[in-house]
Amino acid sequence: MINVQLGGNISTNVGGLQTLRYGNIEDHVNGLEVVLSDGTILNFLNKLKKDNFGPKLWKLFCGSEGVFGIITRASLKLIPKKDYKSTYLIQINSLNKSIRLLKYLRNKYFDNLTSFEIIFPIPSSLLFNENKNNYNLIIEIQSNDNKNYKNELKKYFSSMNLVINKREDNKAKSWIWKKREILVYNQIKYNFTEKFDISLPLDKWSTFINKINTFTKNNKEFTPYFFGHLGDGNLHCNFKVNPFTKKNCSNLSKFIYELTIKNQGSVAAEHGLGLKKNNLLKKYKPNKNYIFLKKLKKHLDPDFKLGKNKLFKA
Ligand code: LAC
Ligand code: ZN
Repeated sequence: MINVQLGGNISTNVGGLQTLRYGNIEDHVNGLEVVLSDGTILNFLNKLKKDNFGPKLWKLFCGSEGVFGIITRASLKLIPKKDYKSTYLIQINSLNKSIRLLKYLRNKYFDNLTSFEIIFPIPSSLLFNENKNNYNLIIEIQSNDNKNYKNELKKYFSSMNLVINKREDNKAKSWIWKKREILVYNQIKYNFTEKFDISLPLDKWSTFINKINTFTKNNKEFTPYFFGHLGDGNLHCNFKVNPFTKKNCSNLSKFIYELTIKNQGSVAAEHGLGLKKNNLLKKYKPNKNYIFLKKLKKHLDPDFKLGKNKLFKA
């Protein structure tokens, strides 16, 4: 047994930079121990791969932000690390080309493609001081083969006229991933603080971005700062709002949420709802689903002792 604290990660079902390859944390859980609001300890810990001896009730506690119970122990599935990794920083001039590249690499390398990140033009220009029309991609390939497909990838990228700005092999302290971290801090530095964490099916990204472009053209007080995990469909679409505008930010959120739902996306992709977005389930989930959730909550925690105002307002 290892003593690490993962309860919060599991109850928010975190994703991250390698969800494309590894899924979210619930995909690594094989069972949980949870404590209910009346103090009952339920042992759903399990080491079995095959187990249909009743439904997997512990799954209810993944991503439910602590409202049904508190996770106290977890049984995890562990997998070995790959021996070699190469990280690429690639300049590209369009979203559609990026999507085609993702499909190609995923098809060809499948599980060895561990990350496929996209950085849209504005964050790219702030991060790399470059031309405002470029997108950047961070692509990581991991395998147990010491060549790690380097030659064939080099050939392929050059046949597609893509610029490899940097490649790092087995770097413990990666410059590329450091830049990716700085990208997140830059949002505070440059005031891109109106944030949306959405996900969309891959074939909807293009329509979604076109609609946003029209919206920002007509509403110049909102400047986009987009980046995300293209590999798994998760887009961080964040904005700076002109501080002198008289327009209300709720126009912006209404626009983004409705457009996301219309395109079969999710308005809470990897960060959950927390206290700031606890009105969204009621607004955007089918009413029957919302009622089912509330009934479940009432049954498990009738006095609302756990997770006050999480998921929905009490
Ligand atoms: C990231 C966090 C913000 O993608 O989700 O870096
Ligand atoms: Zn993210």
